[in-house]
Amino acid sequence: MNKDEALKQIRDEVWSLAESPLYEYRTENKYYPVLGEGSHDASVLFVGEAPGENEAKTGRPFAGAAGRVLNELLSTIKLAREDVYIGNLVKDRPPGNRDPLPAEIELYGPFLLRQIEIIQPKVVATLGRYSLQYLLDKLGSWQVGQTIGQLHGKAIKVNTQFGGLVVLPLYHPAAALYNPSLRKIMEADFTVLSAILRK
Ligand code: URA
Repeated sequence: MNKDEALKQIRDEVWSLAESPLYEYRTENKYYPVLGEGSHDASVLFVGEAPGENEAKTGRPFAGAAGRVLNELLSTIKLAREDVYIGNLVKDRPPGNRDPLPAEIELYGPFLLRQIEIIQPKVVATLGRYSLQYLLDKLGSWQVGQTIGQLHGKAIKVNTQFGGLVVLPLYHPAAALYNPSLRKIMEADFTVLSAILRK
């Protein structure tokens, strides 16, 4: 199976994930699950938390205000959305944008692990604490449990079935909307990403 087929299989499985506690909310509201988009050969895979309303209505990740911040941060290091892959830990919108529950993370997380294994990026850039803690735990990093305040912008090397991978913890783009003083720190963290990609 090639990459496109393998990613499509994940999409089909999530589309019919009736056992998900978020499935009824999706169908009642005519929402889409949000699998991710971008290059299937991307060197960097960004992972957010879960779709919000704009994303669930369009089926596209980071389609609202946080997405605009993400696009701006990408442009500071001369990357376009088409050059990267952008996805989420949880693929369906939690009601009212509440935080994802542990059971939801455990249900959807394996789809993210499969996406990483298929795309085989050089860097997985986590956006916010949920995808960070999930991946540090599942990829066996000793930094699991450390906060995003401690880890942002620091490359963490992990070993996977397909070889070495860098996890780069980044603040969630929405954080810049609530706390504009974080913006400069986020831009600095993106230059770390740029340097890793150029190596
Ligand atoms: N926030 C996320 O974590 N993911 C999205 O796709 C949009 C907003």
